[in-house]
Amino acid sequence: MRTEEAMHYLASHGQQKTGNDTIFSWLARYQSAAAAGARAVNGTIGALLEDSGDLAINQVVDQALREAPAAEFSAYAPLKGLPNFLDLAISLALGDSRGRLEVMGLGTIATATPGGSGALYLAASNFTERGEAVLLRDRHWGPYSGFITGCGLNIATYPLLPEIEDPSTPFFDRPSFERELEHLASTQTTVTTWLNDPAHNPTGLSMPAESRHALLTSFVESAVRNEHVGHTLLLDAAYHLYADEPHGWAETIAEALDDGLPWPENLLICFAISLSKSHTIYGMRTGALVCLHPDESSLTRLKDVMGVTGRQTWSAAPRVAQYVLSELHSHEEGGVAWSHERDRLAELLNVRRTRFLQACDENHVQVNPSHDGFFAWYECDDPEGVANACADQHVYLVPLSGGVRIGLCAIPTEFIERVAEALAKAQG
Ligand SMILES: Cc1ncc(COP(=O)(O)O)c(C=O)c1O
Repeated sequence: MRTEEAMHYLASHGQQKTGNDTIFSWLARYQSAAAAGARAVNGTIGALLEDSGDLAINQVVDQALREAPAAEFSAYAPLKGLPNFLDLAISLALGDSRGRLEVMGLGTIATATPGGSGALYLAASNFTERGEAVLLRDRHWGPYSGFITGCGLNIATYPLLPEIEDPSTPFFDRPSFERELEHLASTQTTVTTWLNDPAHNPTGLSMPAESRHALLTSFVESAVRNEHVGHTLLLDAAYHLYADEPHGWAETIAEALDDGLPWPENLLICFAISLSKSHTIYGMRTGALVCLHPDESSLTRLKDVMGVTGRQTWSAAPRVAQYVLSELHSHEEGGVAWSHERDRLAELLNVRRTRFLQACDENHVQVNPSHDGFFAWYECDDPEGVANACADQHVYLVPLSGGVRIGLCAIPTEFIERVAEALAKAQG
């Protein structure tokens, strides 16, 4: 009898939850090789490490947190978040386009959440009708499936990249996206798509302006054609502040509206904001869901829905980082000091990525396009086999569905070329 079958106290939906320990098991392999004295390379972790192997910490954020009054650590935050933090979350989502969008009549609300994961949970539990599917790219962050299936939803996918590149929409398979959209809009009462852009996990892909514009246009046109079907575009901005165009989506939305793209009533656009990476406070669980819509009364209602969902799930999100970061960004010197540190960390990633892509080129390793953020990706039919062959050379990566994730964020710069060489050997 399987252990779970004997666990009569575990409901069937509890039994469906199986561990996602691939990343940790490959990390453990790295750790045991390193402990045995090998010059092992750790490309398994999804956090930014300095070249020394220590966790990279934004020193300005760390310093500000240490100076916070005791009450800010101890007290509850308001259920929907501290007002100044909610304002900051909207600015982090929209950047310099915020004013322009507001002048156009677009309203915004934010709800504080425990990290970007909390924002994804709010979306999964409220925007897609139970039993219906959320549209994702076929390569996506593994935990998406847990958030989605845990809320009684299904997953539909379209390819990350087109088989034949269309120069008018680089890195975007528009025909497949539209086909899936059409299918969902004609069979479901809600259409929701989640898009981790820019700086996609696990590939590092960022969509250029023309592809963002095309995706938005296809989505809005579907909403217009299907006026009784709710349409939600969720932009997962977990890594956006390390990207070349951090606020590209807000710019695209503003430009499209300027050019006359309509905003139908049944369209909602949201940003899942995470401060885990941008402010290096992974463990402090701070993020927000930011929603955009032109109708103020719908937004007021939505704010209650989000607040109540949070209340029923985690109560209030942690307070101290909400307080400290809204104070830090409320004056120019604070924002500038934070961005200097952020720039230093972004440069670490840039140098590693440039060297990696160049080494792959020299070694004839066909890696995926990778532009920003923490990761790069080697697409292959046998991810386990490739990761094992790399591990034989003491380069530890993570095999996932459809390819191998290369954690540039964790790999010391001096070892980057070894990763490309290991992949070259692994591909035979
Ligand atoms: C693609 C993506 N989205 C969202 C998150 C959420 O991060 P957190 O909940 O730590 O803020 C992560 C974290 O790794 C991620 O990779």
